[in-house]
Amino acid sequence: MSKKIFSGVQPTGNLHIGNYIGAINNFVNFQNQENTTCIYCVVDLHAITVRQNPAELKNNVRETIAAFVASGLDYNKSIIFQQSMVPAHSEGAWILGCSARMGWLNRMTQFKEKAGKDKEKASVGLYVYPVLMASDILLYDTTHVPVGEDQKQHLELTRDIAQKFNQDFNSPSFFKLPEPMIQKNFSRIMSLKDGVKKMSKSDPSEMSRINLNDSKDTIVNKIKKAKTDTLPLPGNEKELENRPEAKNLIGIYSSLSNQNVSKTMEEFSGKNFSDFKNKLSEIVIEKIYPISKEMNKLKKDQNFTDKILKEGTNKASEIASKKIKDIKNIIGF
Ligand code: AMP
Ligand code: TRP
Repeated sequence: MSKKIFSGVQPTGNLHIGNYIGAINNFVNFQNQENTTCIYCVVDLHAITVRQNPAELKNNVRETIAAFVASGLDYNKSIIFQQSMVPAHSEGAWILGCSARMGWLNRMTQFKEKAGKDKEKASVGLYVYPVLMASDILLYDTTHVPVGEDQKQHLELTRDIAQKFNQDFNSPSFFKLPEPMIQKNFSRIMSLKDGVKKMSKSDPSEMSRINLNDSKDTIVNKIKKAKTDTLPLPGNEKELENRPEAKNLIGIYSSLSNQNVSKTMEEFSGKNFSDFKNKLSEIVIEKIYPISKEMNKLKKDQNFTDKILKEGTNKASEIASKKIKDIKNIIGF
């Protein structure tokens, strides 16, 4: 069976190693599989669910494209585009919003986290955000969605919406039910300052994350200052259970060096954190710094990013506009 992969990344700046390990790095792996169509979207409509500075937003779209390409995505193999340039996404979101139920959206933990204490002041867009995400996915008959673990609930909602639409309009299997593809071991990279908090673009502390465009010195410094506990590194995974910071750093090391956690633990068992942190800095610099350099070069080349977006938009529009036509037909427009 042929696979269709779709995923999205918000152009909200501060792309970090969590985005790379949890998402972008996997995008690259899929692009080289046989019988697989890959579609990767810079989701600017999602970004504006919280306030954005227009000039920065423009810049961040370019930076995200540059990060995709610098990480190894090839625009001849994958469709890379900007969400707002394909109107079917917004149209689909409205229509699917009429299938989605309030009760389902009320359960979304990302909304609760992002809206914070004062829910009444959150934008309506932030609330219906997952419906737009369902539209992104369903318009392309997506079979698989590579995302970090934080997006799993939104994928389940997408399946619920698809099923309800298929049922309500008596169109069995019109929308395909997409499968989430979540990396098993390193699906959630945590803050360097707090091992139980997700590494996030929006964390006010720069020290909490390693950005894809950090300099070598900054990387070393952030890792040096990363929170740890006082014990030496343990020898087996079970002993990591109540040591979230150790677990996170070991996870980052393992994923960037493509080895499993037990191999890493064998390597560092009994060593202290300062030895381990030196090695961790080395591997982060080895893997991330070339991306950073390339990214900074590409993002300045506006002709290049514009060309990618133009080509990607044409390819994506062709698929999405067909599907939206079928949707309209089914609902009687
Ligand atoms: P976002 O930054 O919210 O646009 O997320 C882009 C992609 O990166 C999504 O697939 C997320 O699941 C993934 N992601 C974001 N933060 C992390 C993290 N700390 N660890 C792993 N994956 C992440
Ligand atoms: N909500 C996702 C995130 O913040 C981004 C996203 C938007 C997405 N549309 C998508 C991811 C479709 C996968 C598929 O990470």
